[in-house]
Amino acid sequence: MLQQHKDMIQMNKEGWNKVAGQFFEGSFERLSYGTYAPSEEELNLLGTVADCAILEVGCGSGHTLEYLAKRGARELCGVDLSGAQIETARQVVSKLDTPVVLVEAPMEEMSELPENYFDKAVSIYALGWTVDLPRTLSHVHRSLKPGGIFVFSWEHPVHSVVEYSDEVLKFRRSYVSESFERHEAWRGTPIVMHNRKVSTFINALIGAGFVIDAVIEESEVDEGDTVNPAKWYSGAKARIIPSTLIIKCHKSRVEGEAS
Ligand SMILES: C[S@@+](CC[C@H](N)C(=O)[O-])C[C@H]1O[C@@H](n2cnc3c(N)ncnc32)[C@H](O)[C@@H]1O
Repeated sequence: MLQQHKDMIQMNKEGWNKVAGQFFEGSFERLSYGTYAPSEEELNLLGTVADCAILEVGCGSGHTLEYLAKRGARELCGVDLSGAQIETARQVVSKLDTPVVLVEAPMEEMSELPENYFDKAVSIYALGWTVDLPRTLSHVHRSLKPGGIFVFSWEHPVHSVVEYSDEVLKFRRSYVSESFERHEAWRGTPIVMHNRKVSTFINALIGAGFVIDAVIEESEVDEGDTVNPAKWYSGAKARIIPSTLIIKCHKSRVEGEAS
């Protein structure tokens, strides 16, 4: 791996360990794909999870693992960069009967995952943190069984470039120029994000060998939503731009065949 990538992963690991406490949330009642996004209960992208082996990339504090376990998943594996997140996830999954393996590792370095093993993989608001999208997707693809499903959500790349100020939506940077963006104090800590277009996610999935089943760009905003429009996620913004991008894809059943 490039030294530049290693440095960014290290910086983000330190950052995530500091901010993890701000993300210890989630529910096993409902699988949320993100603020203002339709939920799994509405979309049914994962389908039945009973008796499935499932990988979660960027599992955070483990609530999605708990959700999957409570719906009958046979075994689970959660990978996350942050030791603080993994520690909370360990407490959350310790109450479950389902076997759960937790791995503290960057998603760019998941080469130890078993091959052709998981029935499904999921990633909620985590995949976009990767500093090497093709490499991460190749690990996910390799670890899935033929026909295995991968569903991920991430902040919609258009939402990421637009901010609401003075009652107007403004582009704060270029959508087309993709680059690493260093935030000196993201939630109070330095961190690096990679700006990507929607097409970059789609083309990287195709490049890794996935077949795309669905791309979802829907917002669900209550009529009476009065969240301050200047907040990063607000109903006013989500009525105009989807806050979340959700993609469902699968590994083809026959090697090299897009079906
Ligand atoms: C916004 S949180 C989402 C967590 C969880 N999926 C959820 O829905 O609550 C993003 C997660 O990605 C993890 N993460 C960031 N960069 C990562 C990387 N390179 N490899 C693995 N995990 C990473 C963070 O530690 C964090 O737990």
